[in-house]
Amino acid sequence: MTRIFSGIQPSGELHVGNYLGAVKNWVALQQGAESLFCIVDYHAITAPYEPMLLRSRRRDLAFGLLAAGIDPARATLFVQSDVPEHTELAWIFNTVTPLGELERQVQFKEKAQRQDSVLAGLLNYPVLQAADILLYRADTVPVGEDQVQHLELSRVIARRWNAQFAPDADFFPEPQPLLTPTRRIMGLDGQAKMSKSLGNTIGLLESPDEIWAKLRPAVTDPKRIRRTDPGTPEVCNIYHLHRAFSEPATVQHVAVQCSTAGWGCIDCKKVLAESIETELVPIRGRAAQLMAEPSRVDDARAAGAAKARVLAKETMRGVRDRMGFD
Ligand code: AMP
Ligand code: TRP
Repeated sequence: MTRIFSGIQPSGELHVGNYLGAVKNWVALQQGAESLFCIVDYHAITAPYEPMLLRSRRRDLAFGLLAAGIDPARATLFVQSDVPEHTELAWIFNTVTPLGELERQVQFKEKAQRQDSVLAGLLNYPVLQAADILLYRADTVPVGEDQVQHLELSRVIARRWNAQFAPDADFFPEPQPLLTPTRRIMGLDGQAKMSKSLGNTIGLLESPDEIWAKLRPAVTDPKRIRRTDPGTPEVCNIYHLHRAFSEPATVQHVAVQCSTAGWGCIDCKKVLAESIETELVPIRGRAAQLMAEPSRVDDARAAGAAKARVLAKETMRGVRDRMGFD
């Protein structure tokens, strides 16, 4: 049976971008495969951070993932730092990882460029990611396009370790990426990918009023100035959001209304707000239930860690044994 593993950093709020780009896919996948979803807090500390904020974000993310539909009865939802074997295996993998492979990682190069002093943790970030996945001997990793290179490195590490320490058996499977079907969601500014750090998000747990307050002034087709000007859907970010949220028939209708100036941008945004509502109502419902019973979040975290540790320990027994540790 396939075993799925994926991770998400507790580095900001859960917004409709990372929901559509990752988490919604996890919710669907947990139905058909053994799934582990991990809040990767040791990855989050490779960028400057506030300890108190890390604590609240970890919890908020667990809350958000449960509200989004991750079901602890089906999937193992857990926190990376609750399972110390992640860092143990990461250290071991550092000893079989070629430095050149790490220096070649595009994400590392991009992040390093923006910093005066580059820390080793940033360079070794993908080694920890390989440890996350291989600790559970997961074969399938649902991720976005930007993680494909990290997954390639995970396969290099699995191969190297297997060749050196388990030549007779493929102890670690080579994990394959499962690309998320949704393309990246642009932020409300229409300029860049939706991202907490850019302040252009729609939060997954925001109220309809809060969402409308953001949608109403959001950027549309810049060439459509008067209500009577026909618009060009393809260049309008609101149209792209329709494609992410609305039924195909609605999307088609929107395109016609926009390009014939049948609707103004506000009309179009109202329909988008409704489509977003349809997606978010069940999530908000689950969030309300969790608010009423907050211990369920902590219980899910503890149960997830317990399940993950059983698997992690089993893998580490095999690793330690083959590497000459008692
Ligand atoms: P992040 O919240 O940036 O740690 O990302 C968590 C996951 O959500 C990653 O798999 C990202 O590729 C995905 N993701 C984040 N932002 C977006 C976005 N605006 N559109 C699509 N996917 C996203
Ligand atoms: N690097 C991933 C991201 O930024 C997060 C991550 C950490 C991850 N460990 C993982 C994703 C293991 C998949 C599998 O989105």
